[in-house]
Parts: sequence; structure tokens; C-alpha cells
Amino acid sequence: MRLTVNGRDHEVDADPDTPLLWVLRDRLGLTGTKFGCGMAQCGACTVHMDGTPVRACSTPLAAAEGVRITTIEGIEGKVADAVVQAWVALDVPQCGYCQSGQVMAAAALLAENPRPSDTDIDAAMSGNICRCATYQRIRAGIHEAARLLEA
Ligand code: FES
Ligand code: FES
Repeated sequence: MRLTVNGRDHEVDADPDTPLLWVLRDRLGLTGTKFGCGMAQCGACTVHMDGTPVRACSTPLAAAEGVRITTIEGIEGKVADAVVQAWVALDVPQCGYCQSGQVMAAAALLAENPRPSDTDIDAAMSGNICRCATYQRIRAGIHEAARLLEA
């Protein structure tokens, strides 16, 4: 199967039912996308498909053909830069395990809605679980990224 990941084309010989997460991690070496629950419940495996956040653990390889896949290793542009800058400035991560998924979800939210309210943030981020409970800093980080984008 042909995949386009972070702007590069790849030929992957795998069963079409293989979860995208394992192709990214085990075949392409993109280990920034994490395995958490494997059941689309935690968001640790969030990647973008044509800019939309999806759970790579529950996305079959067959569904990933013909779309632009972006992982934490390949995210770029002014929205991504603002999120990363805000995350560093506010020291958002604790253990860090969930954070690539959080950043991917936050970047997708801000690309759609550059001035999200607390309610918008909570709705968009509710599927991304953080066992360290960094939720307050994630919310503040998204507001800070929005401020940076506006400036
Ligand atoms: S590992 Fe995919 S949602 Fe938890
Ligand atoms: S920072 Fe530890 S799980 Fe989120």
C-alpha cells in the first residue's frame, strides 16, 4: 500500500486491516505517536489525516491510503509553531506520554478555530486523556498559542 506521511511517500507491505499506529511506529520508525489504550479512548495515538485528528490505533491502514498523514514528527506551520512555543513557555508536559497526541489535537483545533473558548477547548480535547492531569496547563497552552497566532 502507498502512504504519504509527513510529505514523503512510502510503500508498505502490510495487511490493510493493520492499525495505522503500528505501521507508523514499527515500519516507518515514527515513534513519537504513542500507544495508550489501543481502543480509541485516550488520544495518545492522535495523528492528522488531511488535517483532521484521528486515532491511529483504530484507523486501518486501508483508510490511510490516498490521504496526507501528519505525525508529531512532521507537524509544521504557524499553528504548530505557536502550539510548541506555548507548550514550552508554560511547561505543559509532565511525564510527556500523552503530549504528542495533545499537541496534534490542539493544533487541529486552532487550525479550525483560532480563538477557542474554554468550552471549545474542553469539547475538542475531551478525548485526549492525561494521566498526569495536565489539563489546566493544556487549556492555558491553547489560549497562549491563540494569543501568539493573533500577535
Ligand atoms: S492508543 Fe489510540 S486512542 Fe488510545
Ligand atoms: S503528561 Fe503524563 S500522561 Fe500527560
